[in-house]
Amino acid sequence: MSKPTNQSTNQSTNQQGNENLALDGGAPVRTTPFPSVGNASGRTLGAEELAALTRVLASGQLNSTVGGETRRLEGEFADYYAIEHALASSSGTAALHLAVGAIDPEPGDEIITTPISDAGTVLPMLMQNAVPVFADVDPRTGNLDVESVRACITERTRAIFAVHLFGSPAPVAALRELADAHGILLVEDCAQAYLTRCPDGRLAGTVGHIGCFSLQQSKHITAGDGGLCVTADAELARRMRLFADKGWPRDTDERTHLFLSTNYRMTELQAAVARAQLPKLAGVVDDRRGGARRLTSALASLAGLAVPPHDGMSYWQYPLVVDPALAGGTCHDYGKALAAEGIPANGGYLNRPLYRTPVLADRRTYGQSGYPLQVPPARVEPRYDVGLCPEAERLIGERLLVISWNERYTDADVDDIAAAVRKVHHALTRSR
Ligand SMILES: Cc1ncc(COP(=O)(O)O)c(C=O)c1O
Repeated sequence: MSKPTNQSTNQSTNQQGNENLALDGGAPVRTTPFPSVGNASGRTLGAEELAALTRVLASGQLNSTVGGETRRLEGEFADYYAIEHALASSSGTAALHLAVGAIDPEPGDEIITTPISDAGTVLPMLMQNAVPVFADVDPRTGNLDVESVRACITERTRAIFAVHLFGSPAPVAALRELADAHGILLVEDCAQAYLTRCPDGRLAGTVGHIGCFSLQQSKHITAGDGGLCVTADAELARRMRLFADKGWPRDTDERTHLFLSTNYRMTELQAAVARAQLPKLAGVVDDRRGGARRLTSALASLAGLAVPPHDGMSYWQYPLVVDPALAGGTCHDYGKALAAEGIPANGGYLNRPLYRTPVLADRRTYGQSGYPLQVPPARVEPRYDVGLCPEAERLIGERLLVISWNERYTDADVDDIAAAVRKVHHALTRSR
């Protein structure tokens, strides 16, 4: 904790009438668990998913190359997003790998992305021997900064991978313009952003050339794991379909393999669960938005805590940006204090920007080779040093406070979160 608090009493309220933080021996705001994505309390899994699984098991066909569930899921997801093609795969990381596979970079070609995301955004680039190039982020949202992306474009750039962090819309309209102007592709990582609306009203995932979604356990809808890509481009769709299935063109009768890829097929069991989840998605996002609006109005007046700015956000998590000079502590101080109050929160979201993880910082790729992070095939040796993206480092190091979010939060749950944030804010700011 960066702020001294009154440690002389072990009661909930100290002599000035201020509540003691749970960290300092006070009573926690909350002692019962919140609904969580880690178990049934915070998931919408029920009779529909059970019936779907029973149907598929009874059919005896669990493989998507023969059974119909996965192809139907693709049709239903494409209709849901009003887009021509949807392709299923085994995870969100696989979906992003399908996108890189469809782009088909030459070894050493560059893909620009964000340092604040799950590693699943970046690892597929390395798997296809492309070089990840990190642009900095908007300090208010953690999403890519368009000017920083522009400055990263070179003659070797093949694509931009934008992440809609926590479900907040990244500036994909401007990034699409930039991509089109340079003849490169824009991929939207929507793993955290089902039904996120961009300021122009379009759905996140439909603005770029490809949108990628995850069905992993913690996402708005889940099949445990699973991925979906959407695109309006028939050629990209065909390449992604082949990439998920060993390059095997099953729509011809030939058993052949048209290019290097692997098996990223979704199973029929995953697809059955995902199909049952899809009709619940709009309700999940509505409920998350409703709870988030309640929290935003409760917290809007707290100095040094910026609430999420976007209307179209789908609230995979609820992020706050902490200004330590005004809020009396860093996001890590808040994260620890809130956790002690019984609130599921963490400071920073990541431990370090993606470029500081060993796979990139120490070039732990293929054996000892460091490939493709060397010249050749790279244009220049990429540097993944501390200081590469200062805004991202500041967010992770001191500013980004993430509160776990869920569609099952009641008003009382949200009010407990608000009370805990206010309590921590009061304690950390009162001795300033
Ligand atoms: C932004 C982002 N991209 C990619 C992934 C990878 O998805 P998966 O875990 O389904 O492989 C995740 C989730 O974990 C994510 O949050």
